[in-house]
Amino acid sequence: MPDPTERIWITGASQGIGAALARAYAARGARLVLSARSEEALLALADEIGRAEVVPVDVADLTSLARAAARIAEGGPLDKAITLAALYDPGKVTEIDPETAARIVTVNLTGAFHFARTAAPLLRDGGDLVLTGSVAGYVGLPQGQIYSASKAGVINLAETLRAELAPRVAVRLISPGFVDTRLTERNDFAMPGLLQPDEAARRILRGLDGRRFEVHFPRRLTWPLKLLRSMSYGLSLRLTARLVR
Ligand SMILES: NC(=O)c1ccc[n+]([C@@H]2O[C@H](COP(=O)([O-])OP(=O)(O)OC[C@H]3O[C@@H](n4cnc5c(N)ncnc54)[C@H](OP(=O)(O)O)[C@@H]3O)[C@@H](O)[C@H]2O)c1
Repeated sequence: MPDPTERIWITGASQGIGAALARAYAARGARLVLSARSEEALLALADEIGRAEVVPVDVADLTSLARAAARIAEGGPLDKAITLAALYDPGKVTEIDPETAARIVTVNLTGAFHFARTAAPLLRDGGDLVLTGSVAGYVGLPQGQIYSASKAGVINLAETLRAELAPRVAVRLISPGFVDTRLTERNDFAMPGLLQPDEAARRILRGLDGRRFEVHFPRRLTWPLKLLRSMSYGLSLRLTARLVR
């Protein structure tokens, strides 16, 4: 049984899935450290849920992470460190502004790496280090964007860290399908299996209570994409080419 009073650091907690996850953990008694860039939103959330410390962080900035780590260490070891921080800017790879593309890779992939390096020493023995990928990173799809490529990198990074940091730290991966947040509100296509953030948070919490490496949902979206990923390129590329709009 998980300890309901565990101490959990959530980055990307100012809104969306991260804020919903903070609410879900707080409801069962967890002690939270809330991070993101927007301090005001974090303070409002901390006020709402109670028993939460606010430590603003930019995962792209190592100095801000080092400052956060020093503050968090003062409160004792963490049971879980979870990062959901990410940027998304829909558009074809060939049309996206190069500076925006670089920023997306820096926050999503390098930021996950920075977070992992910073958070691992703060965890108690056997604690969970949780990165967030996406089903968008399973396989390259038409209009998959630099975002999807960054998430493929996060999946690979989580696999590497899982082996490197065991047995002291358990590295885990969250792979959401579509969730109704600021991130997806600019999508102009139908999103199969779209979930509300509260439901996504419930599934993540339940998944992280178990011991599996990956928490993925909804399965009616994730399993077909996993199947596509496991096919030979001869077959999978023919299938994905049919998705070009
Ligand atoms: N929504 C979906 O359909 C979906 C699907 C698959 C995967 N995901 C993944 O799930 C995670 C959460 O997504 P979401 O939908 O909840 O997105 P969201 O509502 O846009 O929230 C993203 C969070 O990341 C924080 N953030 C962004 N840049 C940051 C930085 N440089 N440093 C620290 N924090 C930063 C944001 O806060 P500030 O702006 O205050 O910094 C915000 O709290 C992301 O990793 C996303 O890729 C989402």
